[in-house]
Amino acid sequence: MELSEIVKGAFEKAFPGENFDFVRVVPATDPKFGDYQCNDALKLAKKFKMNPREVGTKVADLLKGESVFEKVEIAGPGFLNLTVSTAWLNSQLSTLNEQPLCGIPQRGAGKTVVIDYSSPNAAKQMHIGHIRSTVIGCAIDRIFRSLGYRVIADNHLGDWGTQFGILIKGYRECLTQEERDDLTVANLEKCYVLSAAKAKGEDEESKAWKEACKAELVKLQQGDKENYALWKKFIDISIGEFERMYRKLGVKFDTYRGESYYNAAMPGVVDKLLKAGLAEESEGALIVNLEKDKLGVAIVRKSDGGFNYTTSDLACVESRVAEYDPERIIYITDDRQNLHFQQFFAIARKLGYTTTFQHIGFGLMSYQGKAISTREGNLIKLDDLLSEAKRRAFEIVRERGGTEELAEQIGYGAVKYSDLSHDPCTTIDFNWDKALALEGNSGPYLQYAYARVCSLLAKAGGDQNANSTSLRECAFGIETPSEKRLALQLLEFPGAVVRAAEVYKPSVLADYLFQTAQLYSSFYQNSPILKSEEAVKNARLKLCALFGEVLKMGLGLLGIETPSHI
Ligand code: ARG
Repeated sequence: MELSEIVKGAFEKAFPGENFDFVRVVPATDPKFGDYQCNDALKLAKKFKMNPREVGTKVADLLKGESVFEKVEIAGPGFLNLTVSTAWLNSQLSTLNEQPLCGIPQRGAGKTVVIDYSSPNAAKQMHIGHIRSTVIGCAIDRIFRSLGYRVIADNHLGDWGTQFGILIKGYRECLTQEERDDLTVANLEKCYVLSAAKAKGEDEESKAWKEACKAELVKLQQGDKENYALWKKFIDISIGEFERMYRKLGVKFDTYRGESYYNAAMPGVVDKLLKAGLAEESEGALIVNLEKDKLGVAIVRKSDGGFNYTTSDLACVESRVAEYDPERIIYITDDRQNLHFQQFFAIARKLGYTTTFQHIGFGLMSYQGKAISTREGNLIKLDDLLSEAKRRAFEIVRERGGTEELAEQIGYGAVKYSDLSHDPCTTIDFNWDKALALEGNSGPYLQYAYARVCSLLAKAGGDQNANSTSLRECAFGIETPSEKRLALQLLEFPGAVVRAAEVYKPSVLADYLFQTAQLYSSFYQNSPILKSEEAVKNARLKLCALFGEVLKMGLGLLGIETPSHI
């Protein structure tokens, strides 16, 4: 039984007839206060106008009879400090060890969640700015799947809009035949830049170019066969290139439904808004006034009749709800889009959607203290970033005979972890040395900790893991304080995964893993393993193996690989 349940039971016994659902047992903030603590006696004392210490004592007396606890103490004004018994700890560890997924509860069973992430704009190469949405999104995706949710990972590509008129005109007139025959995203980007430059000036030639681009766009919108085929070609090439990056990053989408997918549904959305009395005319455009919600005004149809981002996202909600009936939809973009999401969430709610909408607006990544932008000239391509990560990692692992594959696992892992270890809401400055550090809070440090456990287990005999036959026969046997601290921490793993999902922050899990690795390291330094006598050795190996499993599972949820040898 969970500790919170046991303590709640004592409260119920001490004060019959009251509701104690709020009672929580949490890990102690400091081991000198015991292993766990419960601070809820204070809340109750206020309600009953009783001395909180008295309330605490009444509950403590009841808890003292429970075999789970070795010690129950009252501290200060009525905090309950709980020290668990070794027998309880050992049995909890073995339960965790036997559970699939290291005990992650299947809270999402039967529920669907759509996660909209990465979503780059087509015909452009992905750059360092895309890494956050991709990496945070992938971790959230994996975390929700581990909790049993059916996840629809949807890449909402920016695949429609004025840029396609410019691209089509540029494709025909700014590229060489060779470039057209061997069309790459780099060439598309080049043709966009050239074509857009030609449309920029105020002279006749530029104006004519601009008009011609517009005409190509109109043709595309009207379904012109040739332009549509070109557009499709641009999109396919873009997705192919994005997928090359996703393969490197271990990211997989269930669907690639870009903005264009919702084109046909846009007029219907506007009709719905009009019928619901939500949309009104304003200077030729159609708007939804959200002033009352302090969210300004959202345009849903421009004065030229075109629809925009809000309309397309509303059409997208309609489609996702009809097709998947999700419990929630999570969107991951940078925080410059906060207002857009708040606006269309508010409109969707007014339209009656009851789905939970969540936008995770992350802070932008900077590089060497500077914002990443074309203007700063530091728009590092994602491909180059990953190559550099691999190159640097290879330098480190080469000395130990590491392969290129290992360099990829470490290099990419480092890039991902340096992002995921930060709260998504903060801005981060990417730093190579920190990302690839073998010590401190870095991806390679955790991967290295995992590899060390693997080699320890291998040294101990054969290919051991926590469930291998020889270790399976042995029991957990917690004795020393450092063992105990590691054990208590391992029991917190399922809770860390749940919390990371609840607050949509993979950083919660990253923090947990880093702390766990530190506790492991202090256990490892304090406790001889292979030199101990058989029973102690096996019990310690079992704890090491469980740490290895938890670390592997946790890093896996962050999308970070765990090579067994570094
Ligand atoms: N393509 C957009 C961009 O690059 C992000 C799309 C996010 N998803 C959405 N449903 N609006 O900014």
